[in-house]
Amino acid sequence: MSLAFRPITHLRHVGIAVPSYRQAVDFYQNVWGLTPVAQDSGVTFFGTPADPEHYILRVREDRQKRLDLIAFAADSPTDVDLLAERLIDRQIKIDRDPDKLSTPGGGYGLRFFDPDGRLIEVSADVELRPYRQLEAKESIPQKLSHVVINTTNVHATKAFYEDVLGFRLSDWLGDFMCFMRSGPQHHILAISQAPSHSLNHISFEMRGIDEYMRGTGRMIRHGHRPLWGPGRHGAGDNTFSYFLDPFDNIIEYTTELEIVDEDTWEPSVYDPASPDTQDQWGTGGAMTEVMLPIMLKTRDDVGLWTPSPM
Ligand SMILES: [Fe+2]
Repeated sequence: MSLAFRPITHLRHVGIAVPSYRQAVDFYQNVWGLTPVAQDSGVTFFGTPADPEHYILRVREDRQKRLDLIAFAADSPTDVDLLAERLIDRQIKIDRDPDKLSTPGGGYGLRFFDPDGRLIEVSADVELRPYRQLEAKESIPQKLSHVVINTTNVHATKAFYEDVLGFRLSDWLGDFMCFMRSGPQHHILAISQAPSHSLNHISFEMRGIDEYMRGTGRMIRHGHRPLWGPGRHGAGDNTFSYFLDPFDNIIEYTTELEIVDEDTWEPSVYDPASPDTQDQWGTGGAMTEVMLPIMLKTRDDVGLWTPSPM
């Protein structure tokens, strides 16, 4: 048994801010398929009936679009405290010291900035919500699957998530994108080399192939054609349909993301030039013309190194 410090258990939620708040709430509820579980003035917390996580997306009203934070779960308040010590040791900028959280579900957590200035929250003891299995054909997200971030130095950012937060490498795509896990799910985080520090995409897991296709179809019927997909990636073996939300955030429906045996898993390097790496099915179309320029943003996200107002 390794003595490495591995405090992160899973991905909890992502917080975004948008200027057109009403439009965002309507989109994420009525088109994307999330359920508002709590609301305050200018912020809505979205969950899904299929996940015990209190909420998986937080949408806040602000003058400018920004990424507010990415939140991961830790096993215990002790791990949150140990993480704080580690952050102090390594002179990492802490935004909020470990304390009780006042967001829905409560808990105990801290916030800090990763090396690119992204605000990260790590929390434990967050109350779970009652949940149920989704029914066949119920094409709403069942949980948050993974988040992909862009950085100008993929190796430095990867090293931070490994050394400080205990993430493990699952696979590389060429030498520019790495898939990181905190448990058997092939990735909950991927890090991509890009011209900027920015959000690449947020991915939501569907119940299965049928529900993922129905969700994809619902988006098309609402006028949101996939940027890329439906298709099936090589690394992670997951299906993908990528869309833009009304604020140009890339969001993904996925399903069947690979579960790995952590004792035996060896990372491999997927060849980006191979058609099967991009899309095993060959149904997704070319990613290079439309998708790549949108994913690899040239401008940094708004809000780096800046605490979120809530
Ligand atoms: Fe993805």
